[in-house]
Amino acid sequence: MRVLLLGSGGREHAIAWKISQSSILDELFIAPGNAGTKKLGKNLNIQVNDFESIKNVVLQNQINMVVVGPEEPLVMGIYDFFKNDTQLKNISLIGPSKEGAQLEGSKDFAKAFMSRHRIPTAKYATFEANTLTEGLRFLDAMKGPYVLKADGLAAGKGVLIIDDLNQAKKELEEMLLGSKFGQASSRVVIEQFLDGLELSVFAITDGESFKLLPEAKDYKRIGEGDTGLNTGGMGAISPVPFADAAFMDKVLNRIVIPTIKGLKAENITYEGFVFFGLINVKGDPYVIEYNCRMGDPETEVVMPRIKSDILDLFEGVATHTLSERDIQFHDKSAATIMMVAGGYPEAYNKGETIYGLNSITESLVFHAATLSDGPSVVSNGGRVLAVTSYGKNLQMALERSYESITKISFQDAYYRTDIGKDVLDK
Ligand code: AMP
Ligand code: GLY
Repeated sequence: MRVLLLGSGGREHAIAWKISQSSILDELFIAPGNAGTKKLGKNLNIQVNDFESIKNVVLQNQINMVVVGPEEPLVMGIYDFFKNDTQLKNISLIGPSKEGAQLEGSKDFAKAFMSRHRIPTAKYATFEANTLTEGLRFLDAMKGPYVLKADGLAAGKGVLIIDDLNQAKKELEEMLLGSKFGQASSRVVIEQFLDGLELSVFAITDGESFKLLPEAKDYKRIGEGDTGLNTGGMGAISPVPFADAAFMDKVLNRIVIPTIKGLKAENITYEGFVFFGLINVKGDPYVIEYNCRMGDPETEVVMPRIKSDILDLFEGVATHTLSERDIQFHDKSAATIMMVAGGYPEAYNKGETIYGLNSITESLVFHAATLSDGPSVVSNGGRVLAVTSYGKNLQMALERSYESITKISFQDAYYRTDIGKDVLDK
């Protein structure tokens, strides 16, 4: 099989790493990729939202399957672009249709979908500029903290959690009238605050059946002890200790099965990953958000824990034969630590030379934002590298990653030293 993978982050390096081990792979292309994916296939200098250029390289390189990493091309409708094009329609595309991607692309769509299918989630209401007064009254009637969500994609920044009522009202006004998040906040979902530990659960579906992938927990805040600004994710672990069989049974029966069945019942085409962002409230799972793609950095621990051939599973998705395929996991635990540029998630430098990459033997280093510069590898974004290790248990996996990370350096590099600590201490 000739495969094109879209994206350039740690998630895509981890997916590329897994695809490159497939017995049915002939050639792997990555667009645009990074200095890490370059070692596993051929990087193509094309952006993920440039559908016409993607079409050209797919035809030029006789690609049979396109795997979409990030959400943007999915929400923009890359699935429909392929299926509506006479030259592309028979090429497999792993990802949901534009309508399916609305599970991530519109918080209001996702909440209404959950409410139609009785999937547990926080109580909510949606407001627009012309219903601002009702929105303010709705806040008056609630208890804090107040959760305000921009309806559309806002690069992970569109959720505000505010303790003070007056501040929440001010923010609602800025979102609806002041376009705080541009078009994305022309509608705002206000929802009940849920208190508990979060985890990420992943499924892959062909629209009929699905397979659960290993679950993971990511660490979103920049600072130790989950403090400071939100980031794309500073580390991840898998498995998740509190996600025991009884809890996962609830996740399956109350959330995953109703979601897949609901998509089918509503004739929403979905041939890809579903990411369930969940919260454990006193032993019961609730959906915080859906994403229409894998998580980052969760993928950097999920892919290493899958034993089966990933292209066999993707083929099952594309040919609607997923139920006939087998998925097996490694018993081993996996942990990943993100090395980021100092200053991230605010201003930071790019182009810093990275040292020590070749000295790592006990861990997998997934590149999250790197470029080749002659023989050197340089940083090219905020989250630069994800250092993943296996271990007999989480403790050992974490120790190994922390040992490896001391051998890698670049100017002003930063990482959290407490990934996994909250769940191991329990
Ligand atoms: P989202 O972009 O929907 O994942 O939201 C970002 C983060 O905000 C989540 O990972 C949670 O930590 C937090 N969050 C979102 N919704 C709620 C809620 N209803 N209650 C508590 N925390 C929430
Ligand atoms: N790690 C969370 C996400 O990928 O959205």
